[in-house]
Amino acid sequence: MAVAHSIAARVNQLRADIEQHNYHYYVLDQPVIPDAEYDRLFQELQQLEQRYPQLVTPDSPTQRVGAAPLLEFAQVTHRTPMLSLNNAFEDAAVTAFDRRVREALGQALVEYAAEPKFDGLAVSLTYAKGLLATGATRGDGYTGEDVTANLRTIRAIPLKLRATHPPDLLEVRGEVLMLKADFEQLNRTQRGRGEREFANPRNAAAGSLRQLDPRITLTRRLTFYAYGTGAPIAGKLRRHSQVLDRLVELGFPVTAERQAVSGVAGLLDYYRALGARREQLPFEIDGVVYKVNDLAGQNALGFVSRAPRFAVAHKFPAAEATTVVEGIDVQVGRTGALTPVARLQPVFVGGVTVTNATLHNEDEVHRKDIRVGDTVVVRRAGDVIPEVVRTLEAKRPARTHRFVLPVRCPVCGSAVRRSEDEAVARCTAGLFCPAQRKQALLHFASRRALDIEGLGEKLVEQLVDNQVVRTPADLYKLGIAGLAGLERMAEKSAGNLVAAIERSKHTTLARFIYALGIRNVGESTARDLARRFGSIERIAAADAETLQQVPDVGPVVAHSIAGFFAEPHNRKVIGQLLAAGVSFAETAPRQLDPSSPVYGKTFVLTGALPHLTRDEAQQKIRDHGGKVSGSVSKQTDYVVAGADPGGKYAKALELGVTILDEAGLLKLLD
Ligand code: IVH
Repeated sequence: MAVAHSIAARVNQLRADIEQHNYHYYVLDQPVIPDAEYDRLFQELQQLEQRYPQLVTPDSPTQRVGAAPLLEFAQVTHRTPMLSLNNAFEDAAVTAFDRRVREALGQALVEYAAEPKFDGLAVSLTYAKGLLATGATRGDGYTGEDVTANLRTIRAIPLKLRATHPPDLLEVRGEVLMLKADFEQLNRTQRGRGEREFANPRNAAAGSLRQLDPRITLTRRLTFYAYGTGAPIAGKLRRHSQVLDRLVELGFPVTAERQAVSGVAGLLDYYRALGARREQLPFEIDGVVYKVNDLAGQNALGFVSRAPRFAVAHKFPAAEATTVVEGIDVQVGRTGALTPVARLQPVFVGGVTVTNATLHNEDEVHRKDIRVGDTVVVRRAGDVIPEVVRTLEAKRPARTHRFVLPVRCPVCGSAVRRSEDEAVARCTAGLFCPAQRKQALLHFASRRALDIEGLGEKLVEQLVDNQVVRTPADLYKLGIAGLAGLERMAEKSAGNLVAAIERSKHTTLARFIYALGIRNVGESTARDLARRFGSIERIAAADAETLQQVPDVGPVVAHSIAGFFAEPHNRKVIGQLLAAGVSFAETAPRQLDPSSPVYGKTFVLTGALPHLTRDEAQQKIRDHGGKVSGSVSKQTDYVVAGADPGGKYAKALELGVTILDEAGLLKLLD
């Protein structure tokens, strides 16, 4: 049956449009139509092809899943071997690499192409006369597995080159990856189905690509980035960076993170800059790759055994490592929260040796079923605190036990309670528990509270354990003689500490309230309380209802404040602190004037004001019942701009927020 010319034309148009949208989405990273619109085009094409099967071609976008499940993968011999890269773990190895290159090329300064080292699976894609013919895994570098049917399901891989005169043969090399977000999603699905979760995106990508049934691969959301070719591309290309540009033109995604840099300084700068952004990248990388950019230079350097002399992989310190859980300790925090912490066989991860990792809370330990004796994966990424990611159940020794949170506080033996709506269990002893007492003292002395310099963890430990100090009030009874007897406490430092304690007596009401460590009362609430009530006595006397008149104090916070002051022990300590001489300028309670134009309004400050400091301006706004926020949004009423305002000013203009200068602010406050 002949197909009407107009239908064939429509089919061709749809294919061209879909390919163009794929290109915008995967290669340029700039989709031009919404997903739903894309799906509509796709469906129209599918329907036409169903009605007119004679119009189906193997490179049609609908033909990504065609093949039936395989029994096993065929072997493919790579036309050009897929070699490996030598690794550099330290800067010195990079310096040595650059020196060898410079000497071999006789150049003083070498230009390199720097790229991320993708943590996925290397594949080779062979295009014959512009059409994807074979896709293979790396295998041993010489022979790999034919995974063409699976690679065809990856939309980032073009089935057809974007070229009017494609080369007879092109071998594109690159990495198949699973984006972090898709990996998380896949594991959620696996979990929901009670199926095995994948350890990391690389394993998930490998598992997905090595499916014998391409329909499974199709559901796995893999992507691809090209980083080179097998045999060189014919033509006038002289640099590796131009090869990558050409691959982009031909329809391949190439990462925007690539960069041409100069000399060893350029290499190391690139390494550090990308390393700093590693966690933010949508895909996992395990280092960066440096390649001599000049192709003639690459040729001259050649290969040694199985790796090029013109390239090197500079690895990041592994963010994950495995080690053994030697014990699970339970720590008690300032508010009595019990935190299980894994004691680990020391392991080098993320550039440091880790011996402890938080397990967060009881539910987390049970969810991951981490047990003493387990081999676990530990992760430390960037400056984040080390974490136990999961346990390797296959390596679990015989006779281990599920973790049980103690029913008594491991420090003071008091009952532990967990309320229904909380993830954490707490020791109920309050400040009678030495662990909570220590944390409370450290909080009391911390910089934003009473700021007692020199009162650190080790010292507080000794003071509490030797029963020299039980409450913050006891600090003010310390003398040089008493302190000098403690470990690591010379007379001079004892003198310094006593002086620091003395200085801390002159403080503000807001700091004092914050220092008390009332649950749910942070710095900002402490400030609001101080401003509203003006004295500690008035706060202590306020009932929950009165407390809720303070901005941002709701029933929960009001309840913790009232509860704190209802406790005779707390009142006693406060009395002792005041008796010891802790003082703050009393301010009369502020009766805010709701008719002030500042009352209830939200301000953002930016740039330097001519007369007021930032703190003074904030204070004045707050004194009139206004709020000060750090960022401009639709909720902002006024932006007060001084000299050299930044992005906040631009944002204010964009949102049409009223902008004031200092004089304008003072007028409002008047
Ligand atoms: S170039 C002859 N560039 O690293 C050089 N490889 O050890 C061929 N890899 O499994 C490799 N990112 O898949 C090159 N930007 C990149 C890479 C990269 C990751 C992988 C590659 C192979 C291994 C080489």
